[in-house]
Amino acid sequence: MEEKMTVGVIGAGTMGAGIAQVAAQAGHPVLLADARAGAVEKALDTLRATLDKLVAKQKLSSDEAVAIHGRIRPAASVADLAPCGLVIEAIVEDINVKKQLFRELGGLVAQDAILATNTSSLSITAIAAACRQPGRVIGLHFFNPAPLMPLVEVVPGMATDDGLAIRCAELMRGWRKVPVICKDTPGFIVNRVARPFYGESLRMYEEGVADMPTIDQALKDIGFRMGPFELMDLIGNDINFAVTRSVWEAFFYEPRYKPSLTQQRQVESGRLGRKTGRGYYSYEAGTGMPEAKPDPAVAEAITRRVLAMLINEAADALFLRVASARDLDLAMTKGVNYPKGLLAWADERGAAYWVDVLDALQAEHGEDRYRPSPLLRRMAASGLSFF
Ligand SMILES: NC(=O)c1ccc[n+]([C@@H]2O[C@H](COP(=O)([O-])OP(=O)(O)OC[C@H]3O[C@@H](n4cnc5c(N)ncnc54)[C@H](O)[C@@H]3O)[C@@H](O)[C@H]2O)c1
Repeated sequence: MEEKMTVGVIGAGTMGAGIAQVAAQAGHPVLLADARAGAVEKALDTLRATLDKLVAKQKLSSDEAVAIHGRIRPAASVADLAPCGLVIEAIVEDINVKKQLFRELGGLVAQDAILATNTSSLSITAIAAACRQPGRVIGLHFFNPAPLMPLVEVVPGMATDDGLAIRCAELMRGWRKVPVICKDTPGFIVNRVARPFYGESLRMYEEGVADMPTIDQALKDIGFRMGPFELMDLIGNDINFAVTRSVWEAFFYEPRYKPSLTQQRQVESGRLGRKTGRGYYSYEAGTGMPEAKPDPAVAEAITRRVLAMLINEAADALFLRVASARDLDLAMTKGVNYPKGLLAWADERGAAYWVDVLDALQAEHGEDRYRPSPLLRRMAASGLSFF
């Protein structure tokens, strides 16, 4: 059997440990490094427990589990990653720390080795610029938990070599992942297109359209696995607020992405969600979830408004060539489990319907946030569909 290249993973936290598991499951020898003493050993112990559970559930044979675990070896320092054909960085989300690492890596690995970053919010182009050969630097954005979520956003920077994104997408397919290729723009696909799911729901709550459980229930009734408030509590309101804020700032304060004061106050209060026992809902023992107030007209108004904003966001990403229509829809179904791709969803009623919804919202609110994407308007005028 052909020997697989060695994959280096730097950062043995939530994402790095998961990515190392994925690479090892795909048959690669993996070298795992972390600056914090004991972090790699802890990740390997956790992986052993995870693999044991998979064996108990008969999803893996015990031989396979031993082989996967055995393929991951600790690297004492970044210098040990010299033999790697691909290095994936999953360290702290700090541009200066990442740049320093890529500066170091550039002089360390073979000329043809690929250097990837798992950053969620930083510019790939900026990270690559620190490396002696920016052409070999690319974003490989996995989703949490990496072994379970199929999506990988493959993000070439401005100086990334032509063809590297296609090669990486091919490699990710070999790892049984679903790659999508997207432009190096803030939030890539998922963290950009999903913003209105939270933002518009918070706005409706603030305007008194409905309470939180009613908004959550309406969206679950059309196929979303969790409502926005439940999901923000799961993600952590501090994290969700920080992502929204970073996307808003990175787009030079585009009004569509404006963060919510309600969420800011929530963060200030320390009610961060499940992890603190209280967020929008209480998770303390003995407290049940509040009931939604069923009302078909209210539910229709909620879902129409959130879907119109999500569809507009996906259409605008297509308009600005962030990704193809196919990849935009794959990203939302495979990265955040949306019940359908947003552009396919738009096609069900046709673009003209959604432009009318957005025009009515803009007329009512007088806010730029509701302006339809030029592409959605063009499709409405021509009667064309996305697929
Ligand atoms: N957590 C998520 O849901 C998620 C999803 C996708 C992408 N990301 C991105 O993945 C990266 C890692 O996130 P995480 O949640 O796994 O963080 P984490 O805090 O769980 O792990 C980061 C690890 O990196 C180590 N580290 C920090 N600086 C280092 C350095 N200079 N050299 C070597 N090791 C270093 C830390 O000791 C820690 O073990 C970030 O860029 C984040 O934006 C996170």
